[in-house]
Amino acid sequence: MSSYLRIDHIDKSFERGGVRTEVLKDITLTIDKGEFVSIIGHSGCGKSTLLNLIAGLTRVSAGAVLLENLEVNAPGPDRAVVFQNHSLLPWLTVYENVDLAVSKVFSGRKTKAEKHDWVMHNLDLVQMAHAKDKRPAEISGGMKQRVGIARALSMEPKVLLLDEPFGALDALTRAHLQDAVMEIHGRLGNTMIMITHDVDEAVLLSDRIVMMTNGPAARIGEILEVPIARPRNRIELASDRTYLKCREAVLKFLYERHRFVEAAE
Ligand SMILES: Nc1ncnc2c1ncn2[C@@H]1O[C@H](COP(=O)(O)OP(=O)(O)O)[C@@H](O)[C@H]1O
Ligand SMILES: [Mg+2]
Repeated sequence: MSSYLRIDHIDKSFERGGVRTEVLKDITLTIDKGEFVSIIGHSGCGKSTLLNLIAGLTRVSAGAVLLENLEVNAPGPDRAVVFQNHSLLPWLTVYENVDLAVSKVFSGRKTKAEKHDWVMHNLDLVQMAHAKDKRPAEISGGMKQRVGIARALSMEPKVLLLDEPFGALDALTRAHLQDAVMEIHGRLGNTMIMITHDVDEAVLLSDRIVMMTNGPAARIGEILEVPIARPRNRIELASDRTYLKCREAVLKFLYERHRFVEAAE
């Protein structure tokens, strides 16, 4: 069967000083084009490891990641990543940070004027065009994450990978960015995979929520469908029965069935 993104029987272990730690065990997941999938699980269970495997930043120990039937084994612009802490270059302006990615990905494929328009288009998408000449140190954390998202989107990735992208932001800024990402997903129809440990965020944004068991050797415990029509409105959903049911299912998984036990180290 062909699917857009296929994570096929993946195992991942790390070896350090002769000691082998099994982090992920037999992870299989297929994701459709345009789907928004969240991965939720307790700290240390292997969420970032899974995302890094999809990004091609880490190699699998067994199994394979396939994007449009091609095996992923290195990073590429078809899988752009947004990390929790922005990774903008501090000496470049907002514009230059996005332009760097655009120039690299579209080298020889877009004229100078087209590249300029494309940078501005992506800054507009995240409402950051007004700050194009500012440097990262001159803008807020939320704004930096917006620029990081613009930079990722500017590469026209097949899959956008988000590793707790709003984790370092205050609640209000976080809500604004969630709305921005939902709006962009609605408009562009990108395939997005987001790691979070925020239950409301997962339900609000996702078509499906992948719930991971605790490590070591973490697996997919359950996958929850979120059958809520889009566009979604956070205020209307606050009292929506389907929303509350989904929220409860995730909470039960995380806090009853797979309670986090602090590792004794
Ligand atoms: N490069 C690495 N080398 C060794 N162990 C690692 C490496 N990366 C992650 N781990 C281990 O894998 C486990 C899962 O980490 P991670 O994927 O970052 O978890 P999460 O993102 O769910 O909090 C942790 O126990 C971590 O220490
Ligand atoms: Mg992580």
